[in-house]
Amino acid sequence: MPRINELECSRCKTTVSAQTPQTVCPKCAGSLYVRYDLGVAKGLGKREQIARDGQAGGWAGMWRYRSVLPEVKPVTLGEGWTPVLPSKRYPNVLVKEEGANPTGSFKARGLALAVTMAKHYGLEKLAVPSAGNAAGALAAYAAAAGIEANIFMPKDVPFANYVEARMYGANVTLIEGLISDCGRIVAERKEKEGWFDISTLKEPFRIEGKKTMGYEMVEQLGWEYPEAVFYPTGGGVGLIGMWKAFAEMEELGWVKPGRRPKMIAVQSSGCAPMVRAFEEQASASKMWENAATFAAGLRVPKPYGDYIMLEILQESGGLALAFPDEVILASLQDWAKNEGILLSPEGAAATAAYDHLLKSGFLKPTDRVVLFNTGAGLKYTDVTADASGIRRTN
Ligand SMILES: Cc1ncc(COP(=O)(O)O)c(C=O)c1O
Ligand SMILES: [Zn+2]
Repeated sequence: MPRINELECSRCKTTVSAQTPQTVCPKCAGSLYVRYDLGVAKGLGKREQIARDGQAGGWAGMWRYRSVLPEVKPVTLGEGWTPVLPSKRYPNVLVKEEGANPTGSFKARGLALAVTMAKHYGLEKLAVPSAGNAAGALAAYAAAAGIEANIFMPKDVPFANYVEARMYGANVTLIEGLISDCGRIVAERKEKEGWFDISTLKEPFRIEGKKTMGYEMVEQLGWEYPEAVFYPTGGGVGLIGMWKAFAEMEELGWVKPGRRPKMIAVQSSGCAPMVRAFEEQASASKMWENAATFAAGLRVPKPYGDYIMLEILQESGGLALAFPDEVILASLQDWAKNEGILLSPEGAAATAAYDHLLKSGFLKPTDRVVLFNTGAGLKYTDVTADASGIRRTN
């Protein structure tokens, strides 16, 4: 396992120690990246060892990448190593089924690692603002670790998110407002309450958990990059984490540099701050007023890591795209009926984006692409029933 050298600011490159819990850069409030001494994991031999260890030691989920993760005892519920499902209709489309994670979403990866580190540091009370799935994931891992979880989320989150957080024993407060309002409340109260703020990109380890999606996707494709990655984007941790994984894999000599995928950030037209910023070629986003979409995880009106995402989109030759909820719902229904895959609304934004880029000619049918279904469709039955007009009739 690698040693953490330091935490490095994504904006001004200031470094701080990882010996004690850290939040954001003390100089500019940028998000912090974990930097390791990767020397011990370099070379193809170390890469091949991952699969050998995986086979010998049984299923290790995302912890099969422990050679590039902090050296600590994991708090785990079986996260990661999710399937890549080939589409029946599009021969070069793979769906990375993140709904197979504990708590039914990719948020499990980031929160497994963040709670693991919280336990390592001896933190006793965590707090998070959430669009829904992060709440469920934090509540589950906090319960597994014996740590208190304090959760603030919009009162109209998918019902499953509320019920799961309550069942895991978290302190849940429903708010009239959006995740940004929840974030403000956590920030205002955390000092007095003694909470550690585990918000998206305001502590360094959720990125580390989410980066395993990048390693995993590339390993599952035979250690090759796909042509493009479609990522339903709210706060953007997965996008940022995967890009970090690609840089590390190249440094490690595990993949050939120079052919990274185009990163496609997908949002809903009801909340598309990243699309607007991308189109305006801005270096940061502006608060999206009156954000509203049934893709609850995409309802993030001002992502904290907007500046990092914009750099990645540009560097990768990618795009940011948004679609109306009707188009997203039509894609969700299409994939359920024709592929047997019940996507989350967020995942269906990615499938809608693929259709669009195929039609526009930005991608060719022969381009191999990975679409992230970031959550299980079954977590959204109230939301999708409502949007589709499904009611029990007897
Ligand atoms: C299912 C789902 N997809 C996508 C997102 C957006 O994730 P990120 O914040 O990593 O952009 C969320 C966030 O809550 C989510 O729950
Ligand atoms: Zn900084």
